[in-house]
Amino acid sequence: MAVIGKDIDQAIHFLNRGELVAVPTETVYGLGGNALNPETVLKIFKVKERPSFDPLIVHIGQKEQLSSFVLEVTPKARLLAERFWPGPLTLLLQKREMIPDIVTSGLKTVGIRLPDHPLTLALLNRLDYPLAAPSANPFGYVSPTTADHVNDQMGSKISYILDGGACPVGIESTIIGFENDDPVVHRLGGKTVESIEAVVGPVRVLQQSSSRPSAPGMLQSHYAPGKQVLIGSWSDYRDKLQTDRTVMIRFRKPESGFPHDRQFILSSAGNLSEAAKNLFAALRLYDTMPVDFIIAEPVPEEGLGRAINDRLRRAAAG
Ligand code: TXA
Ligand code: MG
Repeated sequence: MAVIGKDIDQAIHFLNRGELVAVPTETVYGLGGNALNPETVLKIFKVKERPSFDPLIVHIGQKEQLSSFVLEVTPKARLLAERFWPGPLTLLLQKREMIPDIVTSGLKTVGIRLPDHPLTLALLNRLDYPLAAPSANPFGYVSPTTADHVNDQMGSKISYILDGGACPVGIESTIIGFENDDPVVHRLGGKTVESIEAVVGPVRVLQQSSSRPSAPGMLQSHYAPGKQVLIGSWSDYRDKLQTDRTVMIRFRKPESGFPHDRQFILSSAGNLSEAAKNLFAALRLYDTMPVDFIIAEPVPEEGLGRAINDRLRRAAAG
């Protein structure tokens, strides 16, 4: 099993040898490796069992590094980086040649972000290279938000897990691309569309078709636990499902008429940030229990709620 610890020197030791280290970010844990070393990046794809056509995000430790890795920082990209980095926002920009093609799956753009986690920022600022890091889960599964989540599934395949505690945002970064400098959201995430629009004006949110995703993270079925996820309330399914093979994930209140000890409340205060933080842990918890069905209640479709509902829909399509 991997060693779990808070030792940045250990992490650097393994990374400098071309090995992989799981790193905490504010969104989810990443499976990190030297982004400029194609052999290391290949290891990331292998360990994650990720198809080679699904590009990786590159993590930097300073805003100023952005222009070293991309050909041009367009005006709106610059505004967003200035306003929201470090934070849960990934920018897709034309890559420079030094970014190996394997990182971007042959695409001309590279996804870059400056994560907001003290341990990983300290690590990045001591490395001579940026870190390519997808979420540290097997391809298609729910992202990890604690070091134990990472260890459960990836522990036997990596050397070290840098333990930064539970991820405070709990849902992956928002991914933004640009068409003639017009921002386009490729993946809803931890930075809300409303907050982005307040800085750069109206943005388009890509509606994904399962047949032609712009990125496999946008596949209709993704972020899925092993159990069947159904969207709705108990009354939608009570005629078809047995109570003792079913659990529920609810936003703020338990559903009456269903055993309360089989319901996970994401935020009893009705707070969407708290709900996002708890979502993946709830899915993982119920995945380990002897149940067949997880009924998930959609949250309000606003702010972080849009990203939460997006992940619920994808989990349900799994
Ligand atoms: O919050 C996050 O973004 C986390 C933490 C670890 O930073 N990372 C993460 O990585 O969620 P991953 O690999 O699980 O998801 C990244 C998504 C994938 O769906 C990938 O297809 C998309 O980003 N992506 C990466 N580069 C892209 C590009 N050049 N064009 C379009 N999509 C891209
Ligand atoms: Mg992922």
